[in-house]
Amino acid sequence: MKKNEFLWGGSIAAHQCEGAWDQEGKGIGIMDLVTQGTYEIPREICQTIDPEKYYPSHEGIDFYHRYPEDIALFAEMGFKALRISIDWSRIFPKGDEQTPNQLGIEFYQKVIDELLKHDIEPIVTLYHFEMPVHLVREYGSWVNPKVVDFYLNYCQTMFEALKGKVRYWVTFNEMNHIDPQTEASDIFTYIIAGLKYTEMENKQQTLATISYNMTLASVKAVKIARMIDPENQVGCVFGLTPAYPLNCDPQNVMNSFKETDRECYQIDAMCMGRFPEYKLKEYQAQGIELTVSDEDALAFAQGKLDFIGLNYYSSSVAHYEGDEENEETLFGGTQNPYLEKSKWGWSIDPTGLRYLLNYIYRRYGLPIIITENGLGAIDQVEEDGTIQDDYRIEYVKKHIEQMEKAIVEDYVDCFGYLMWGPIDLVSATTGEMKKRYGFIYVDKNDDQTGSLARSKKESFRWYQNVISDKFNN
Ligand code: BG6
Repeated sequence: MKKNEFLWGGSIAAHQCEGAWDQEGKGIGIMDLVTQGTYEIPREICQTIDPEKYYPSHEGIDFYHRYPEDIALFAEMGFKALRISIDWSRIFPKGDEQTPNQLGIEFYQKVIDELLKHDIEPIVTLYHFEMPVHLVREYGSWVNPKVVDFYLNYCQTMFEALKGKVRYWVTFNEMNHIDPQTEASDIFTYIIAGLKYTEMENKQQTLATISYNMTLASVKAVKIARMIDPENQVGCVFGLTPAYPLNCDPQNVMNSFKETDRECYQIDAMCMGRFPEYKLKEYQAQGIELTVSDEDALAFAQGKLDFIGLNYYSSSVAHYEGDEENEETLFGGTQNPYLEKSKWGWSIDPTGLRYLLNYIYRRYGLPIIITENGLGAIDQVEEDGTIQDDYRIEYVKKHIEQMEKAIVEDYVDCFGYLMWGPIDLVSATTGEMKKRYGFIYVDKNDDQTGSLARSKKESFRWYQNVISDKFNN
């Protein structure tokens, strides 16, 4: 890839920014039931909305109505690419219909046209935690193979509707988090499949089945995308975290390898042409039943990814053997004493990005795009209206430096950097607005006040200069 083809830009997701949760035929998506800071949705009631409660996604940042203004701001920053997601429940409100909601399709056509008008390459994620709730209630979510068929029908609808306009597609965002290990994992199983880990019967079997069905759905979607348009480039996005050993005790180094590698079996399955044998044997040893049919085997062989999307925020420390005392992180586990952390406890580790880029590239040899990276922080609006977010600039700058080392010194084929949340949006894991990532400030607060007006932070100009320098030199 030539230097000035590098895709500088950002990533956003439908449920975190669109709002308009019940407009123009949209159905209820799983994230429409999440109240601020909680994931307290029992399945039985998951189709009802409690008018007493506040659901941040219902308004989001009103991207649904303000997208021309927002895209113009991205263009002003010099974006070459924007990753958006399509909300499945806008296209098929319940998920199992035969005919799509035309108004939903038209909305995304308009957004894509707006991006193209500004020479911004659209990168489209087909599933970023946006599942019609009906599929959870009636079919039990991804446990049921019928959901794979509904998903493929939805993908086909979008490949056709945006044919010739969208070249880069992403089948799933961060489905690798479906394999949780702690009771704090309700967040992850809910955002990925609309199910709560703590309420799941036969947890291991259920999770393995969900993971397998989603992996299979991804490879099948790749094949359909290519049939509809051979120009389509299809990837899948993984949210990866290198887990370092606490010390050089060989057992801890082994634990570190296993933890870092734990979620890579899905990438193996999508890149290597078959579901990995080691994972099937592991399932067998755990009493988990899973069969790869001949038809599935063919799908894995035919649906290999064209590129890998990497979401990177922080590193972790692997579970260790020993008696060292250490501070715990938000999601359990050990805090790295060498690293600073964000207000939400996420360690800040730019080198981890270089490490992962090398790890993934050497393992799969596929082009990589950084599809998310950024810092969630509390911003202060000064009296004159400015926002001095040096901490965000510092974070992004250091990560870009490490990415460049990976490209220039380690020869990793990385073709883009999309920072997460170029405009403030609703946090996926806490539903908060105060956890801001943006270069563009949105006047909206957790107590539901705010005009939704957009303004430029200090980082806006900084990123604009970064893109223009890198692009022209
Ligand atoms: C990624 C998700 O894992 O993390 C995004 O793909 C999410 O949707 C991002 O917003 C940051 O997490 P949070 O909870 O700070 O919004």
